[in-house]
Amino acid sequence: MFEQLQDLPPDGLLALIKLYRDDARPEKIDLGVGVYRDSDGGTPVFRGVKKAEHRLHETQDSKSYLGPEGDLGFVAALRPYIFGQGDAFGDRLRGVQTPGGTGAVRLACETLAKAGATKVLLGTPSWPNHAPIIQATGMEPVTFTHADIATETLDFDALLTAMKAAEAGDVVLLHGCCHNPTGIDYDLNQWAQIADLVAERGLFPLIDLAYQGLGAGFEEDAEGLRKVLAAAPESMLAYSCDKNFGLYRERVGALYAISKTDDQAATLFSHLLSNARANWSMPPDHGAATVRVILTDDEFRREWDAEVAEMRARLNRMRAALAQHGTIGTVDLAAVGEQNGLFSTLNLNKDQVMALRKSHGIYMAASGRINVAGLNERNIPHFVEALRSIA
Ligand SMILES: Cc1ncc(COP(=O)(O)O)c(C=O)c1O
Repeated sequence: MFEQLQDLPPDGLLALIKLYRDDARPEKIDLGVGVYRDSDGGTPVFRGVKKAEHRLHETQDSKSYLGPEGDLGFVAALRPYIFGQGDAFGDRLRGVQTPGGTGAVRLACETLAKAGATKVLLGTPSWPNHAPIIQATGMEPVTFTHADIATETLDFDALLTAMKAAEAGDVVLLHGCCHNPTGIDYDLNQWAQIADLVAERGLFPLIDLAYQGLGAGFEEDAEGLRKVLAAAPESMLAYSCDKNFGLYRERVGALYAISKTDDQAATLFSHLLSNARANWSMPPDHGAATVRVILTDDEFRREWDAEVAEMRARLNRMRAALAQHGTIGTVDLAAVGEQNGLFSTLNLNKDQVMALRKSHGIYMAASGRINVAGLNERNIPHFVEALRSIA
């Protein structure tokens, strides 16, 4: 059986972790791995998470099965953050817990494919797992340029053109905020235009929201996508709590689906459960239970909110510090100051990326994607100097 299989290339970012670890140079900088770092380069467990885990430990009296829907208390507690306090969707909106945002995207695509969707509009570059998930569920990614890396600008016309060329029922996959890997998001006016086109063309929005709170704030990061959800009779939203609660390996996510009617929502919910069951039976409990404890306790919630605010402020500080250096060679650092979230993609070719690694100990993805959280006040001068030397 397995003699038919060919070797697949190793995951580039995982290989980068090892290379970085083995580099003895003290001035080395890791801009590769996609997790938040504090100014000391650590990814510590949130204080609020520790406290909530402690409470769970004290109070949880059973590890018995929950069900394919996971922790519905968690799903409900998260809802107002995404859809707004007292949203207008009522029982048309249903949600299930999933193993991370990845599980949510997978469940969304699988369910859409089974419902008859065949094409997904996908702006590129995108999170590298989007296209494989779309394909694995039997759909076709229809790509358009999300942003032009050479000029660090959004190609909004490419999205509009793709949407105008799409057929009713085609899915349009949109990053809710803090686009991975470019950091280039839509403004509110653009979100409004997307909402109008979604309604006019009968497209199905699938929003991927993996970094809420890391851009401008929880409400601000959801404002644009809410316009699309309000304009579309049906939609889905895949959510990850892995970044904004720092729970990465606990695999915490949720998939929300909005249907035209309460009855359709109940039917769709039964399909979400059935598809979840055939994939992972039920999602892992611990991380989502921790999030539920945080969001339903005023003190824990305030503490967590303050921690996310710290992260956001640090990311924006690093972006502002880079932006001061303007343009260096092909890289427009001023544009990085306008972008959001953990990632930006710099206009560097593979030789330049390799030169930064070999000559300066600066590690980033071959695409030029940097994790802004890998920077701090101490290493930015080295980073900027290195960019100058390879420009
Ligand atoms: C855009 C996007 N969607 C989904 C995910 C998946 O998140 P999770 O780790 O919760 O599966 C990521 C993670 O990097 C992401 O960047």
